Amino acid sequence: MTTILHGNIIHAPSFGALETVPNGYLILEDGVLQTVSPVLPEQYAACPVTDYGDALIMPSFADLHLHAPQYPMLGMGMDLPLLDWLDTYTFRTEARFEDLDYARRVYRRLARDLITSGTTRVSAFASRHTDATLILMEELEKAGVTGYVGKVNMDRNAGPSQEETAESLSETLRWLENCRFTNIRPILTPRFTPACTDGLMESLGKLAAERDLPVQSHLSENTGEIAWVKELHPDCPQYWESYHKYGLWKDRTLMAHCVHSDRREQEAMASSGVWAVHCAASNVNLCSGTAPVRELIERGVRVALGSDIAGGDQLAMNRVAVMSIRASKIKQIETGKPFLTVPEAYYLASTAGHLYFGGGAGFQPGHKLHAVVVDDSAFPEPTRPLTLSERFERSIYLMEKQHIKAVYSEGINRL
Ligand code: GUN
Ligand code: FE
Repeated sequence: MTTILHGNIIHAPSFGALETVPNGYLILEDGVLQTVSPVLPEQYAACPVTDYGDALIMPSFADLHLHAPQYPMLGMGMDLPLLDWLDTYTFRTEARFEDLDYARRVYRRLARDLITSGTTRVSAFASRHTDATLILMEELEKAGVTGYVGKVNMDRNAGPSQEETAESLSETLRWLENCRFTNIRPILTPRFTPACTDGLMESLGKLAAERDLPVQSHLSENTGEIAWVKELHPDCPQYWESYHKYGLWKDRTLMAHCVHSDRREQEAMASSGVWAVHCAASNVNLCSGTAPVRELIERGVRVALGSDIAGGDQLAMNRVAVMSIRASKIKQIETGKPFLTVPEAYYLASTAGHLYFGGGAGFQPGHKLHAVVVDDSAFPEPTRPLTLSERFERSIYLMEKQHIKAVYSEGINRL
């Protein structure tokens, strides 16, 4: 089946690049992008066109780090540092996901809010609960969100009601047996080194190797956390080595934060193909710091963005991109490293995440379409006609749900 979309096409095929096709056409066959064209090719003249008029069509967003069971505590506990915030709010909130009706309600709402915010790919942490994790996967799939979900593993330092025992591994196996989804796949998720015993880390590393499963966790977010890892693993000179020791530090491992990663830790990421997920809103909210994003990129580390709900308070990834720009400007004031430009931050919030999942670099033919259509006509009236680049910049800063007119995921409009 042929689908043709018409509008102002904008994408960031590489870091820092922004390409625009005014009044252009996207031609899809069965949801797969065939051509990006400034005119309607002759052979499609008789086909119906979905006309978005003067609206902007751009690749959708990808959120590579969020905690789904923390959605109920969005905007709470924001005056606490990480370890107190976990003990006071987070573990207790996640404990509620024992209740599967509650889980269903929260996860259905979250899945819908992701789509209506223009996010079509995620890598999400669930809670420790196997059945609630499967419900999250089901609700995401039904809503049209694609990507990875992980049942969280934590068998120490996670609050008395939340700590797992030997069942952490057996429940992980039960969860994997029941993951039967098309566009949502499992990712192994040891919460972070302080919450996993050595035995559990070792078992998860073996499982990752045996079944070729991806891994996600947290790294060097907060100085108190880093000191704690050092106490728990005196044989590891740096935090990352506590994952490396157990086979969890590998190609495509996602490590959230990396706020305090120094040159050596960054080089270990680059050489192993470990990705850094930058969560600027969370890092400022929890006073963790501002991550060295420019340095990571210069050293060859692959970087994408995450909302880190609910350490982060904004689900919409355009807001997260703006926060990463602001954090980078503070970093520039402190260190002189150039801040992230709007096209660069958008690349990290969109293209980078799609590439992580094997999607296209911007509107690259051969891949299923992941796109948002933004109607910017209700923004404050400008003094002169704006260029498409200016309209793009404004959309990243100002876009809200009501401006989003369509959200394509795997080639289908899910809005
Ligand atoms: N480190 C371990 N667990 C968490 C969490 O839930 N959020 C954040 N931001 N950091 C963590
Ligand atoms: Fe997190």
